[in-house]
Parts: sequence; C-alpha cells; structure tokens
Amino acid sequence: MEALFLESISLPSPIKLNAQPYHCTRSANWCFSSHYNVSTASKNNKLKPVCCLNSENARSVKALPSHVEGLSYVLTKEDMMTLNNVAERDTTGKLMEKDSSDGIGIVKCLSGKVLFITGATGFLAKVLVEKILRTIPDVGKIYLLIQAKDNEAALDRLKNEIINKELFKCLQQTHGRFYQAFMSTKLIPVAGNVCESSDLGIHPSLVNEIASEVDIIINSAATTTFDERYDVALDINTKGPSRLLSFAKKCNKLRLFMHVSTAYVNGKREGRILEKPFSIGDNLAKEIARKSKTHSGSYQMLDIEAELKMALNARESFGDDEATQKMKEMGLERARNFGWDDTYEFTKAMGEMLLNKTRGDTPVVIVRPSIIEGTYKEPYPGWIEGFRMLDPLVLWHGRGRLTGFPVDSNGVFDVVPADMVVNAMVAAASSKLSSMRLRSGIDVYHVASSAVNPLGTEDLFGFSLEHFKTFPYKNSKGMPTNIEKLKLFNSVEDFNSHIEGVGETSTGSTSQRFKKKLIEQSKHLAKIYQPYTFYKGRFDNTNTQKLIDKMSEEERKSFGFDVRSIDWKDYICYTHLPGLRRNVLMGR
Ligand SMILES: NC(=O)c1ccc[n+]([C@@H]2O[C@H](COP(=O)([O-])OP(=O)(O)OC[C@H]3O[C@@H](n4cnc5c(N)ncnc54)[C@H](OP(=O)(O)O)[C@@H]3O)[C@@H](O)[C@H]2O)c1
Repeated sequence: MEALFLESISLPSPIKLNAQPYHCTRSANWCFSSHYNVSTASKNNKLKPVCCLNSENARSVKALPSHVEGLSYVLTKEDMMTLNNVAERDTTGKLMEKDSSDGIGIVKCLSGKVLFITGATGFLAKVLVEKILRTIPDVGKIYLLIQAKDNEAALDRLKNEIINKELFKCLQQTHGRFYQAFMSTKLIPVAGNVCESSDLGIHPSLVNEIASEVDIIINSAATTTFDERYDVALDINTKGPSRLLSFAKKCNKLRLFMHVSTAYVNGKREGRILEKPFSIGDNLAKEIARKSKTHSGSYQMLDIEAELKMALNARESFGDDEATQKMKEMGLERARNFGWDDTYEFTKAMGEMLLNKTRGDTPVVIVRPSIIEGTYKEPYPGWIEGFRMLDPLVLWHGRGRLTGFPVDSNGVFDVVPADMVVNAMVAAASSKLSSMRLRSGIDVYHVASSAVNPLGTEDLFGFSLEHFKTFPYKNSKGMPTNIEKLKLFNSVEDFNSHIEGVGETSTGSTSQRFKKKLIEQSKHLAKIYQPYTFYKGRFDNTNTQKLIDKMSEEERKSFGFDVRSIDWKDYICYTHLPGLRRNVLMGR
C-alpha cells in the first residue's frame, strides 16, 4: 500500500480512538490504526493517528510509520484521488484521472451504459428518454419495460406513444432520415409488468440477455391516482419497486438502481422536511404525535405484509359491483390511519420502505420530485402530456367555472418543471456511478421548490388570472370566456357554503342540473386538493443543491435543475399554461 500524506482532509467527527482498527463512519468505512485521541493529536501536533479507507488497510498498518509527522493518513492512491474528486471510473470500472473542470462528468459517465427504464409510456420517463438520447447519443441500449401482451405489441406502443411523439421532434431533426434507425438501435421495447413476480413477466428468452447487459435501472412506473384502489396501488407502488429490485439483483453488471418516488411520501409531516430514507415500520402518525407531544402510546405498527394481506382478503370479500369503491375507501382510510393524506403517497412511501429493507449492497438512489409540470426549457418550453396535478384546478379557473377556492393564504404549491426533474435524475445517477466511496448506500434527493423558491398559492391564481385575461379560453362556440379574481377561503367548509349560496342565488340561463353539477365538481376539487392547498411541509433540498455544486459550468447549462432560477410568473403565464393549451387543449 502506497502511503500519501494529506494535510488538507478534515477528519470525520466525532472520533474517539481507543481500539484498533476503529470504524468511525459506516459509509466510508474509515478506520484508524492508533490508540491516540485525534483531538489531542491535532492540538499538540505530536501524536500521529493513521487513517485508512478500509479495514483491510487498517489491519495491515501494524504500527505508526516512524516518518509520519503531524496528522497524516495512510491512503491508497485511489482513495486520495476519490477524496479529492479528481478520479472517476471509466465504463469498465477502471480508475481514471479526472479533469476538475469536468464536474460530475455526466456525459462521460453515461456513455456506453445500458439502461433499463420502466414507465416510459408515461409523462416523466418519456422526457428522460428524450433527454438522454439527445444529449448523450453514445449511451448504450435502453430497454423499456412496457405493459403489452407481447414484444410486438410493446413495439407498437413504443412507436405510437414514444418515438413518434412531438416531444422527440428535436431528435427527429437531428437524425433526419436516419431517425427511425437511430431510435431502433437504442430503444428496445420489452413487454412486462412490475406486478408480475416472475422476472416482471419478461419473456424467458430475454431475461438473461437483459440481466447480463444492464448497468442502470430506473423505475418510473407507478399509479399516480390519489385515491387509487388500495389493492392496485399496493401492487404497483409498494410491491412493484421491490419486484424490480429482485430482478436488479440478477443483473451482474448493475451499478445503480434509481427509483422515482414523490416528495409527498412525507405525508402529514410539517415544517422543513429532510431528504431522509424511510425505514420499515415508519409510522408518520406516531412520529407527528411524538413531535407535537400528543403521543398517546396507542399507535399501531405499520406492517406492510399485514396491509397486503388485509387488502387481498378485503378484495375477495367484496362483490364485483362494490369492490372498486370499497377498495378506494380502504386505501384512504389506511393512509390517514398512519399519517399520510392519500393512498398514492402512502403506497409510494411503503414502496421506499421495502426498497430500503431489501436493497442489500445494491447502490440505490431515490429521487423525490414534488408536483411535476410542463418543461421549463427542453427539448422546448412548455411540453406537457395530459393534465398534470395543478392543471384541472387552473383550467377550471380559466374556463370561468371556479369563482373561489379554499387555500392556506400562506401556503405554497411545490411545483417543479419536468425537464429539471429529469436533469436532476441524470446528474444524481452519474454522481452515484462516479463516486467510489459510497457506492452501496442509499441517496435521497428532493427535487422541489418550496424551501428555496416557493410559489405562493395566491400567486398561482394571480398568474393564471393574468394569463387567461390576456389570452382568454374560448368556449365551444369560439367565444372568449371572461374570468374574475378567485375568492379565497380559509377552509373547505367556508368554501362549500359559499358555493352552495352562489348556486341558490344565481339566475341566468344556466340550467339547474348544470349548476348542481358545477357545485358538486367544485366541492370535489376542494376536497381532493385540500392536502396540497393546506400543505404545511417544505421540502429541504440540500442534497440536490450539493449535486448542483458538483457540476461544471457546462453541465449546469446542459443539465440544469436549479429551481431557484425559476421566475414563476414567467413560467406559469408564458410557458406552462401556453404549453398546456397547445399540447393538451388543442389550442383552445
Ligand atoms: N407527475 C407528477 O406530478 C409526479 C410527481 C412526483 C412524482 N411522480 C412520480 O414520477 C413517476 C412517473 O410519473 P408520471 O407522471 O410519468 O406517471 P404517468 O404518466 O401516470 O406514467 C406512469 C407509467 O407507469 C407505467 N405503469 C403503470 N403500471 C405499471 C405496471 N404495472 N407495470 C409496468 N408499468 C406500469 C404506465 O404504463 P401504461 O402506459 O401502460 O399505463 C406509465 O408508463 C411515478 O413514479 C410518480 O410517482 C410524479
């Protein structure tokens, strides 16, 4: 072992050196071969602790080298390069010296890598696939797990729902007549389902091929319906990620398992919420009660296996006609019982718990975006597919159907554009791949704006008013719709009484049936948005900000995700809403 003496590295703390070897941090497995106390040593500068990067090295250091002066460390050359962030692994895993201006080295890191991505027929992973192919054309193959009866049907979905979408028009322009050929060498559709326990339902003839090639797995598959049936949400969001992880363990080259979760796995937590992984059994109701000192001591353990059994038994006990409604109610009831707002958040949180429990030494990155909306810049501003979380609300306002809404006047909507989420995913993946020290750990990133650049709830409605006043929504006869400033209410109850009052007193040509329907729909919107319009948590994004700090100037330009740079008025009025109207409302 080559000894290198570094004066500049600060010691991990707290450190007490009584025995040797001594493990002082679990993650880096630092060990000290010394009987001496580091703080004393640093003060009088006489004693000489020796620090090695792993226990093997520490055991090989029998005594302090006589020539070591002051605080010196015995490190391998590789260790030193890693610590100074001047080295990275090449595609074969060999250590290479890195140019410090490279930043994370995203492009180099992902070039030649083979990826396996789920959920690419959906909104987010489609943006991810486009971004990778456009900015890292030397990436290896990308296997896409697609729900379909066979690989041929999966290929049809790939063409219709991915390759031929307008989102890919920049790539089409770049490759011209070679576009289809380029896409078919890169994108390999694989029929499968994260609810299938045997190799995700992938045809056996493909399993070994995929398992021997894949370097990175990214899981974006989910059901995102807030009040999904409990049995369905458990199957996809809770068990799905761990089924994929079991498959990942067959992939002998695998270097990263990335899971897309949601910042709202933090359920009813309040205040600044840190980027911490969940552990099995975490019960937010208990945690929140303990914090607010209202702990009654009677909180039930969150036992995922028991939840799965309960959902299965319940489903079998209900007749077909009532099963859907009853299973939806059950999901909401179980979520609230344990401190989450809805079935989606709760089942996603349990998905994270199972991943953390079963990951072993698989390197895992969990990305938790907040509310994802249309693209900020790339591949072009305002691309969106379908109505996302905020959109029904804002459109109801724009169409003149909403006259008021219940919100916390100090509240925020935690929004983040889709291309920033994707850029953060690419940077986080590359960072994990190029870091040699913490490879088998679990990293969590909040990709969210509420802690650093909040979009106020009142501001959002102000911006949408400005947009729809300037560019009015046109009704089915092509006539512009006139809209007014929304009246905001402090509670759902106040809002409900207001709108019932409006319904009773309003005259005009609108039929009573239509008015009644509007009232019911407004009440429904108020109810389902309540957890978000009164959300008391702010998602800390320290890990995500650190990732930005590691990037080079060039990387920040090509893979930027600094939510602090977003001008919300500009984004909502002139990027997101025009994009939504162009892409989803066909220009209305
Ligand atoms: N959209 C947001 O605002 C938001 C915010 C935070 C986090 N997230 C997370 O981001 C991820 C992507 O969300 P998204 O908005 O892109 O969702 P999305 O548009 O609803 O797409 C979901 C994707 O998952 C696939 N899928 C569902 N069930 C599956 C199964 N059993 N097996 C295989 N694939 C399955 C869907 O395939 P089909 O096309 O076959 O249905 C689709 O491709 C999710 O994990 C979500 O929790 C989303």
